[in-house]
Order: sequence, then structure tokens, then C-alpha cells
Amino acid sequence: MTKGTLAVLINSTQQNWLPERWKVRFDAVCGGRRVVLLPDAGLDPAEVHYAAVWKPVPGDLGAFPNLRAIFNLGAGVDALMADDSLPDVPLVRVAVPDLTHRMTEYVVLHVLMHHRQEPYLRQSQRETRWEPKYQWPASAVTVGIMGVGTLGADAAEVLRQLGFRVSGWSRSPRVIAGVECFHGAGGFDAFLRATDILVCLLPLTPETQRILNRDVFAKLNRNSPLGAPVLINAGRGGLQNEADILACLDDGTLGAASLDVFVQEPVPPDSAFWTHPKVVLTPHNAADTDADAISAYVAEQIARFEAGGGLENVVDRARGY
Ligand SMILES: NC(=O)c1ccc[n+]([C@@H]2O[C@H](COP(=O)([O-])OP(=O)(O)OC[C@H]3O[C@@H](n4cnc5c(N)ncnc54)[C@H](OP(=O)(O)O)[C@@H]3O)[C@@H](O)[C@H]2O)c1
Repeated sequence: MTKGTLAVLINSTQQNWLPERWKVRFDAVCGGRRVVLLPDAGLDPAEVHYAAVWKPVPGDLGAFPNLRAIFNLGAGVDALMADDSLPDVPLVRVAVPDLTHRMTEYVVLHVLMHHRQEPYLRQSQRETRWEPKYQWPASAVTVGIMGVGTLGADAAEVLRQLGFRVSGWSRSPRVIAGVECFHGAGGFDAFLRATDILVCLLPLTPETQRILNRDVFAKLNRNSPLGAPVLINAGRGGLQNEADILACLDDGTLGAASLDVFVQEPVPPDSAFWTHPKVVLTPHNAADTDADAISAYVAEQIARFEAGGGLENVVDRARGY
């Protein structure tokens, strides 16, 4: 296969997404391949063979008639899947150890924060109160992970090593050593019933939209050693019913929530999530990824593909992830 041109299309003003810096990185790892930055008024769209994209505007990618593959520069492809005009070529998502490990750091940090009563202890410090509460062992706490794919399975393994009881829920059956695995609609209630800390690492698809709602929270372990179940969502904002989360925090159905993702990002200044005493908010940075690792991953995939090999981590368009 001829050496194709890689077009980089980044639609973000965030500091870590500066398009020029990505172009420099791709130039460095693409072994002489032509790399162009879009938009480029002088470029013939027929010259583009690969697109490396972040948040393209729907319709952008339909302009390239000779596209061979699209590389999304993140793990979640929900925004791309919503583009009806997306060309019918392989869509590859990012799955690199750097991203996986950072997500595991986030999950472990927030599980431990709630398990070790950090919000309560920081409040006690502010109020000059020396009032330790009983501390349960990790082995008394079940962390239930919704989505045990690349990210969920790695977090499960580290939490298990810390001594937590860990269970996972997926679409199809999974076997993970030391983790009790449930799947599908049939396994959902049993998974929820035992869960004290619910971690969501699902992709956003038509099936998972607003899956984090009152019905689900009400099924979590009502006898949790933590007092009330805790929610940690680092998947996508569209997975959560935000009014339900706030109402469930207020009436005790949930004890606390760590949220990295929101329906509207940035979260509007008047949102209750900013100030709610039981919410730990992070600005969708659970797993910012090293651009060097991602550009090297894309360059390697293209080189292998042109040499006749297969692409890895291709999205199944029918499943939506
Ligand atoms: N906050 C951040 O900074 C950040 C960063 C990166 C990624 N993310 C989010 O994390 C998500 C997961 O990433 P990943 O790399 O772990 O994806 P993945 O490897 O594709 O794993 C997805 C998991 O979700 C399960 N799943 C999908 N649909 C389901 C359904 N309807 N019912 C039950 N389980 C279902 C899958 O089940 P099977 O095992 O049966 O396929 C799989 O276990 C991404 O899609 C993205 O939205 C967030």
C-alpha cells in the first residue's frame, strides 16, 4: 500500500490540545510521512488517507474521498458515532498504557478518598475537631465497576491488590481473576445489590445513556459499611441523570459522588455540582494522556496497516464502542 498522508484535525482550545504541537509530534514519529494540519485551504481533500481527530465538527470527515482510517485521539468515540456522515472506514480509538494507568490512578484515588473518609476528615480539620470514626478494612467494601474493558479491568486489578472486594459488569461475559463478573441485563441487579462504591467506566451508547439514575442507585447495598453507597463516574456525562444524582445525594440514597464528566462541560457556574457538600468535582481530566504516547500509537498502527497488518482497537459501529 502506498504511504498515505495523515491529516490532523483538532477542535479544542485547551492547552494540551494545541494543534501545532500535535503536528510536531506526529512529524517526529511518522518516519517521513506527510502530515498536514486541518483546516488547510490549499489541500486537495483527495490527498488525505488517514485522519487523526479530536472533536471534529459533524460533517468534517465526509470531505475526504480517499480516507483509509480514522484515529480518534481519545478512548471515547460517542461524539464521532453521533455524526451520520462519518465515512465508512475503520474508526480506531486510543488504548495505550499511559491513558489506562492514569484512569486507574483516578479511580483508586477516589475510591480511597471515600473509603478512608477524606471528605469527613478534611471537614473535621477545618472545624478543629479530633473525632475519628470507625475505619472499615478494604476487605469489607465492595467496589462494583460498570464497564470492565481496557480501563475498568485495569482499575479492578489494582483495587483487588489493595484488598477491596471487586466486581464488574459488562455487556458480554468476562473472566477476570479475583473479580466477580456479571453481565447483561440479567446480571445487573445482583451486581448492584452487593456494591458499596459504584465506579462507572462505560462508553456512552444508546444502550447506556442515563444508566446512572435513581432506579440504579436505589438497588445499591443499603447496608454499606460506608453508611450509604458512593458513585464515581469517569465515563461520560451522558451516562448520568444529573437531577437524580443531586436528589439521591440529598435524600441519602447516595452518600457521596466523585464526578469527572458532566452533561454540559464546562459545568455552568450556577450548577449545584460546584458547591454540593457531597460532590467531588474534577474537570474531565481523569485520564489526560501523553500526546507522545498517542501519536506514537497512531504512527505504529498506520505503518503496520500499510505493511498489510490489521488495525487494533477498531470500534464496532453496531455496538457503538
Ligand atoms: N474521563 C476521562 O478522562 C476518560 C478518559 C478515557 C475514557 N473515558 C471513557 O471510558 C470509556 C471506557 O473506555 P475503555 O477503553 O475501557 O472501553 P472498552 O475497552 O471498550 O470497554 C467498555 C466496557 O463497557 C462495557 N459495556 C459497553 N456497553 C455496555 C452495556 N450496554 N452494558 C454493559 N456493559 C457495557 C463493555 O462490555 P464488553 O466487555 O462486553 O464489551 C466493556 O466491558 C470510554 O468509552 C470513555 O467514554 C473517559
